[in-house]
Amino acid sequence: MSDAIEALLEENRRFPPPAAFAASARVSSPALYTEADEDFRGFWQRHALREISWFREPTEVLDDSNPPFYKWFADGELNISYNCLDRHVEAGGGDKVALHWLGEPGEERRITYAELLAEVCRCANALRDLGVRRGDRVAIYMGMVPELPIAMLACARLGAAHSVVFGGFAASALADRIQDAACTVLVTCDGAWRRGQVIPLKEMCDGAVDLCPTIKHVLVVRRTENDVPWTPGRDVWWHETVASAPADCAPERMNAEDVLFLLYTSGTTAKPKGICHTTAGYLLGAMMTHRWVFDIRPDDVYWCAADCGWVTGHTYIVYGPLANHTTGVMYEGTPEYPSWSRHWEIVERYGVTVYYTAPTAIRAFVKAGDQHLEGRNLSSLRLLGTVGEPINPEAWMWYHERIGGGRCPIVDTWWQTETGSIMISPLPGLTTTKPGSATHPMPGVAAAIVDEQGVEVARGGGGYLVLKQPWPSMLRTLWGDDDRFVQTYWNRFGRDVYFTGDGAKTDDDGNFWLLGRVDDVINVAGHRISTTEIESSLVGHAAVAEAAAIGAHDPIKGEQICVFVITKDGVEQGDELRAELLQHVATQIGRFARPGMLLFTSDLPKTRSGKIMRRLLKDVAEGRELGDATTLRDSTVVQTIKDQADRQLGHR
Ligand code: PRX
Repeated sequence: MSDAIEALLEENRRFPPPAAFAASARVSSPALYTEADEDFRGFWQRHALREISWFREPTEVLDDSNPPFYKWFADGELNISYNCLDRHVEAGGGDKVALHWLGEPGEERRITYAELLAEVCRCANALRDLGVRRGDRVAIYMGMVPELPIAMLACARLGAAHSVVFGGFAASALADRIQDAACTVLVTCDGAWRRGQVIPLKEMCDGAVDLCPTIKHVLVVRRTENDVPWTPGRDVWWHETVASAPADCAPERMNAEDVLFLLYTSGTTAKPKGICHTTAGYLLGAMMTHRWVFDIRPDDVYWCAADCGWVTGHTYIVYGPLANHTTGVMYEGTPEYPSWSRHWEIVERYGVTVYYTAPTAIRAFVKAGDQHLEGRNLSSLRLLGTVGEPINPEAWMWYHERIGGGRCPIVDTWWQTETGSIMISPLPGLTTTKPGSATHPMPGVAAAIVDEQGVEVARGGGGYLVLKQPWPSMLRTLWGDDDRFVQTYWNRFGRDVYFTGDGAKTDDDGNFWLLGRVDDVINVAGHRISTTEIESSLVGHAAVAEAAAIGAHDPIKGEQICVFVITKDGVEQGDELRAELLQHVATQIGRFARPGMLLFTSDLPKTRSGKIMRRLLKDVAEGRELGDATTLRDSTVVQTIKDQADRQLGHR
């Protein structure tokens, strides 16, 4: 962490909002901050009453009688799909494009608000025919096709909670998530396009569903037209059932605190956590932050290049933009296929004005080279954003100059699956940015940096990032596990202080700099993976006795997963076993969790209480001088590991 702090301290470049941008920005006065500071309840209440279309307006704002089990707008009634679709159509905005969709092979779809509403209603009716009722859970495991947001909104219309599982997860990870939430229906595709290849999603679903007796039906979108295994009675085609269902479906009257969705994320144990979000507070957070941070105007063409399988897709592809009646872009593929110019072709083709991506993608663009920008007209862009991990100042500068043409403000947005919406970010018409800093907490967000004892550190100091005040889009619990919810987030500094798990510091101007996770969670290319999840997967392999996973610095992905493996006696170590173990993790958890480095060792550095000292393994993986090893049970172990690692790294 000290390296990061030193590097950041040297960053003195400042970028005030361009005058023309500031002059017409949605937020151009600091009054929004002062209003929220003076009375955050009144602040959120005013916005909730003004911006949400309620079936029944709430009279309550925040119920904080039983922290950390907060409730927002608890007697209000609404439907989020009504807020995203019907109200715009009723106001005459049905012809506006909701989504420009581009498939990886190049086909396009243009879906208006009226068409999206009709399709969501059809899907809701089809799901109801498959037995889905208010309060049920529906799993969604798809590629980036329009049917994915349609299925999410259809669940919301019926009052069923969706649980979207990223299409890169393996069958067993999908099964775990379905079982935890006892989902009754799974929505998927025959396959997904990925770099010109078909990923057989339906086949993977079958592997999962075999382990999930709660699943009564699998609804399948035909996308890649590959042959798929079929279980008559259980499996139904989207194009047969949804297409023929009626195009109207009354939205359920949901309570503000009814569950909208679950989204599983990694924690410090092997069992993923079902982050639970409810309806009204989440909608308010998504809608307001989307409008303020991305300065959204009626003629914007907004592209969040994330996947709907992560929270960024939920909040900033689906709910925030649609609630704001925005025209969005959705792309099926990855940035490098068929070439690294794909994103810039898309910007040009649709005239994208606001572009939001992850630092790992920006670093990959830098590495691929500026020739991919040649001949591309990016002049439609007026605002750029990043999310998912700290952005290094050099990547920030490249983004600013090469993509933004030096004229577009950059919003570096810090938030989490748990926070539901952006918590720390510049407001582009107001904030002077510094490359690498997420700058300031959003209006209504009380972020602070505290020491081990929970005492706030002085400006310029570093420590743990906490949120001292509840906010509407906060997670409400972990699905089926209130205790773990309290233990994970609300135990370290008190029942009313949310612990983010991140380290951070402020500079002399009060800007926040995020310094990465302080727990055993690895952030690979903006995706959270727990060390224990990987370790348990490896130990599940017959050849492995013990394993330790760490995150080691990687120039493109931010961190790469590096694993240290002790094999059982008599097992032959070597490249064949290494390849097999790497594949084992990819098969069990998902492709994106495949370790970048695997080292065989004869031992692991442990403290006297048996805890693995990951800090020392990190030194080994990153080829650094070994840090202090005096608290180890056997301090010679780590030198042995280093020698073994050097030998293996040397001949790779
Ligand atoms: O460590 C922080 C990092 O990503 C974590 C949250 O991951 P997830 O729930 O998967 O959500 C990612 C998208 C919201 C955080 O605890 N993180 C996210 N955004 C930033 C960041 N780190 C630094 N700067 C950011 N802008």
